[in-house]
Amino acid sequence: MNAKPMSRNFLTLDDIDVSGKRVLVRMDLNVPMMGGRVTDNTRVVRLLPTLKELLKKKAKIIILSHLGRPKGTYVPDLSLAPIVDALAQALGMPVKFGVDCVGAEAEKAVAELKAGEVILLENIRFHEGEEKNQPAFAKALAAHGDIFVNDAFSCSHRAHASTVGITHYLPFVAGRLMEEELHNIETYLTQPERPFTAVVGGSKVSTKLALLESLVGKVDNLIIGGAMANTFLLADGCKVGASLCEPDLKSTAKRIRAVAKEKGCTIHLPVDVMATTAFAAHAPGTVVSVDNVPSDCMMLDVGPESLQQFSDVIRASRTVIWNGPLGAFETSPFDAATVMLARVAARQTAEGKLKSIAGGGDTVSALRHAGLAEQFSYLSTAGGAFLEWLEGKTLPGVLALQTKKAA
Ligand code: 3PG
Repeated sequence: MNAKPMSRNFLTLDDIDVSGKRVLVRMDLNVPMMGGRVTDNTRVVRLLPTLKELLKKKAKIIILSHLGRPKGTYVPDLSLAPIVDALAQALGMPVKFGVDCVGAEAEKAVAELKAGEVILLENIRFHEGEEKNQPAFAKALAAHGDIFVNDAFSCSHRAHASTVGITHYLPFVAGRLMEEELHNIETYLTQPERPFTAVVGGSKVSTKLALLESLVGKVDNLIIGGAMANTFLLADGCKVGASLCEPDLKSTAKRIRAVAKEKGCTIHLPVDVMATTAFAAHAPGTVVSVDNVPSDCMMLDVGPESLQQFSDVIRASRTVIWNGPLGAFETSPFDAATVMLARVAARQTAEGKLKSIAGGGDTVSALRHAGLAEQFSYLSTAGGAFLEWLEGKTLPGVLALQTKKAA
């Protein structure tokens, strides 16, 4: 997965001398936490190549990140302090912590940093200047560094001070993870080998409307699972019982189907489902056809016949892009179809018949849960940025890297 970019239109760590310099790195340490502990360190581990390279080159590393959406105020639960341990453990060396990202204390902590040391500054979203991309805030962040490295592809759909504003005040380059994400997403998805199939799941059509609309114009097959399939089934006249769905988006679902037909994209919906009256671990599920869902039942996973059909589509595909689980994967046994379809994709990938690309927080968790995260051709660490890239949008943080050069 550590491939070199085909033709890069941005500068990288290869283009700068960092020895003894203060290197300000935007990373995405917005990781899942529970009880003050990191529950999935995928994003931390994927940042190691940049950190290790900078350490080897004797840089002073100052890390900027956000956690959650505190909206410009201090929220103790969203402090980055507990992430210091996860970072230090992954890196195998101590990591310092700055109790604020700007101001006198941050400046003192950065001034005391020696070459080959790392400091993580407190959540940049505790200041409203970050999301508002205020020049004064961007300038205050920039004052900590001699060079800026953006290694947060997953945050680059945000035009914030730490992704865009800061580039007005410092020479900048892309980090290794940014390079890797751009290279792989572009390689596999700009001119995908066909048949090209998208698997889209998750709970709501409304959150992935732009994605679905964009995908039907690009892919040959669109497999829809998760609760968002329920809205499509409802639009087709099925009764969805007590299942999660968005009745006000029925006409939208119909429009997406019509556009798909016009563009030659086949939409694959479940034909049977696992239905249950109780959404709980190990709740007994019953397989029912989608036009026979009892009024008191919820559809929590796709059924065996649907899985067979979806598997056949994957087996006939050369490229698969996957975003979102097919069922309520966190709650067994409703993880079954997601795990089994992921196995089919992993097997096809191992046999060299398929390029498989997955992205999005839930998707990465589902593939980890299935023990298959390493068996896809590429796993993006990005959620929203991955979706926006797929929708064909320009990512402001990437654009900033591409339009300006390091000094
Ligand atoms: C993510 O988790 O996708 C990134 O960290 C961006 O987070 P945001 O959606 O809160 O900007």
